Amino acid sequence: PVSVEFLKELPKCEHHLHLEGTLEPDLLFPLAERNGVALPENFPKTTAELEEKYKSFADLQDFLNYYYIGTNVLLQEQDFFDLAWAYFSRVASQGLCHAEVFYDPQSHTERGVALETVTAGFKRACERAERELGITSKLIMCLLRHEAPAKCMDLVRAAQPLIQDGTIAALGLDSAEKPFPPALFKDCYAAAKAMNPDLQLTAHAGEEGPAQFVTDALDLLHATRIDHGINSSQDPALLERLARDRTLLTCCPLSNVKLQVVQDVRELPLQRFLDAGVPFSINSDDPAYFGGYILENYVAVSKAFPTWDVAVFAKIAANAIEGSCVQVTLEDQKR
Ligand code: HPA
Ligand code: ZN
Repeated sequence: PVSVEFLKELPKCEHHLHLEGTLEPDLLFPLAERNGVALPENFPKTTAELEEKYKSFADLQDFLNYYYIGTNVLLQEQDFFDLAWAYFSRVASQGLCHAEVFYDPQSHTERGVALETVTAGFKRACERAERELGITSKLIMCLLRHEAPAKCMDLVRAAQPLIQDGTIAALGLDSAEKPFPPALFKDCYAAAKAMNPDLQLTAHAGEEGPAQFVTDALDLLHATRIDHGINSSQDPALLERLARDRTLLTCCPLSNVKLQVVQDVRELPLQRFLDAGVPFSINSDDPAYFGGYILENYVAVSKAFPTWDVAVFAKIAANAIEGSCVQVTLEDQKR
């Protein structure tokens, strides 16, 4: 396998990172205290107990139940800043150059926190990360697919100024996948795209859901990127299409193991994707919950695929750059 040092030095982009999923237990409890937020009766009482719980999840929903309790401790603009800044500070030492990060406004607006408050805190952290750490970033606003599509449309309307001024660079779709197919959100995606033709479109699909959901995200939502997309491997015609259109799959190896999508990183169809010419990137998803940031995910892949040499990882890193919302040109690099 390639060395950890090589993987650390490799210029990496992260495309699949939920900012709310970076809430470490050792920030969750102090924030709950600072904001006077009562956690549920049966919720673990200490960082150690919570970390113990995070060691295994039955499936996506079991994780989401904890994830949404975690979001409840975030109230003030400063909380959102602190959360994102902690993430950027941490991955700066892992060789991260560029991050396109998700956030879930509905998990906050439902509790009376304004979209503008959430966005301002995250945006301030992004700006500081670029200034002080040299990490560029984009914000991706996600719709919670377990919410009614009409509620999601309300969020899209509320976000119009942020979509139009480019603060929100892309629209995404997350939360419980199987009961909520992409088709439900066709109108939301169309409305958002109409607000700004530069808005990029992505969606979680093929994590627990079937390959058909990946196809639907492409056909009905006009997504140009797919988050997870692991189950695409069940449909050879879809793989051909993804390769032809160079549609990036944002894969999250440690997440897939923690949520029991697979039992081991070795089971992931990453070799199949490489052989079929399907571009993918390696990402951490919700690192505070899944036990690893971006570098740990690269390391897990290199251990699971020990024959992959530096050329393979250079290819993966190059595909990640190509699949980013911003294209880094040679001109930019010279500056
Ligand atoms: N899948 C779906 N929804 C999510 C995830 C995920 O991996 N992480 C946070 N919300
Ligand atoms: Zn995700």
